[in-house]
Amino acid sequence: MRISVIGCGYLGAVHAASMAHLGHDVVGIDVDEAKIALLSAGRPPFFEPGLPEVLESAAPSGRLRFTTDFSAVSEADVHFVAVGTPQVADGDAADMRFVDAAFASLLEHVKPGDLIVGKSTVPVGTAARLAELVAQAQPEVTLAWNPEFLREGFAVSDTVSPDRLVYGVPEGESGERAAGLLDEVYASAVAAGTPVIVTDYATSELVKVSANAFLATKISFINAMAEIAEVTGADVTKLADAIGHDARIGRRFLNAGVGFGGGCLPKDIRAFSARARELGKGDAVRFLDEVDQINLRRRTRVVELVREEAGGLAGVRVGVLGLAFKPHSDDIRDSPALDIAMRLADAGAIVTATDPQAVENARRRAPQLRFAETAEDAVRDADVVVLITEWPEFTSLDPAAVGELVAHRTVIDGRNALDPAAWRGAGWTYRGLGR
Ligand code: UGA
Repeated sequence: MRISVIGCGYLGAVHAASMAHLGHDVVGIDVDEAKIALLSAGRPPFFEPGLPEVLESAAPSGRLRFTTDFSAVSEADVHFVAVGTPQVADGDAADMRFVDAAFASLLEHVKPGDLIVGKSTVPVGTAARLAELVAQAQPEVTLAWNPEFLREGFAVSDTVSPDRLVYGVPEGESGERAAGLLDEVYASAVAAGTPVIVTDYATSELVKVSANAFLATKISFINAMAEIAEVTGADVTKLADAIGHDARIGRRFLNAGVGFGGGCLPKDIRAFSARARELGKGDAVRFLDEVDQINLRRRTRVVELVREEAGGLAGVRVGVLGLAFKPHSDDIRDSPALDIAMRLADAGAIVTATDPQAVENARRRAPQLRFAETAEDAVRDADVVVLITEWPEFTSLDPAAVGELVAHRTVIDGRNALDPAAWRGAGWTYRGLGR
């Protein structure tokens, strides 16, 4: 099929490359010239395992190109809108400027019979509003909403082999045709038996935000238990193992630690709350404000633990392991690691931080921090070592060897990812979160 993808960030770049990998003819469009130049050269503008390979495999086929020229839309029949919906600067709501701008540009170039497919995470009600705009500008163009559930670090495999497909389509013939076209786009996943849920616009939008709200709630639930564990001497890791054996609960996303960050979960729960308030249903999701607060309290807890162990923060040397919001990513958006590193530095600590992929992004955002290329250099002469992003490079560190480098053997395990017995056995004071 002939596909255009508007917006070449995490979502769009991966979607464009994956669609070409699946055999479609794809043009990716973005206003950012630097990003387009990199993608055109087959180089991803961010770290994402598997993406270089799909970009490379698509190149010789000639099925994938990137441009800043919006008129390229007219070469395609199915148009995915994959621009960002970040949090507005002065509130909780989603900033819809990029979506609105993408639709305005798109509608200048679409032709009768085309299908527009929204992929961006949007407040419920957006698709219905945009469908009216589409109907006014091009009555023979249909809008579908097809939320994306990819995880950074697994983005390509989540796109090529999703665990479900959700199509929000209008009622009647145009909706049936839209669902049929999406089945063709995702033919390999559909043939493999991927569940397909065909529904209305509002449900498809809510599926996305409620999935992320549920995941955020699950993480904050276990982090709330960690708070209780901290004053009772219980071990939250064992607790998670035990309740996780109940298939109704499940062990995944019950890892207590510094909590969730990234470009999705934090801003999505805030935008959901804001939208619910607009709808007069703020009470229904008020618990999400609590989920947010529990999450942010964990970051404060790590700063307090460092202060407690070092007897203050001014002049204390802290080696911070991790800057990305999670391993296998260079994304520092709303990263607990970067936030904690900056708070420690603001309080007078001498922070040296490292990350296998995120140092360059972090350096641009927080030039006041010191950065090291390796874990060994980050922890050298440290009074306290803080692990915040559980990269395998960090969780596999040998406590005895690291002990030779530091000034004091004190480690704060912000992800409960280290073996306390091994670290204590090597002479370390070990502090986890809720264990
Ligand atoms: C999340 C969702 O998992 C995806 O399904 C969704 O498509 C995506 O947002 C999106 O909306 O685009 P992602 O942001 O890549 O994906 O990251 P997750 O793997 O969900 O992790 C989010 C945060 O939760 C990370 O900071 C991670 O460290 C933290 N986390 C995760 C925990 O603190 N504990 C856990 O048990 C699991």
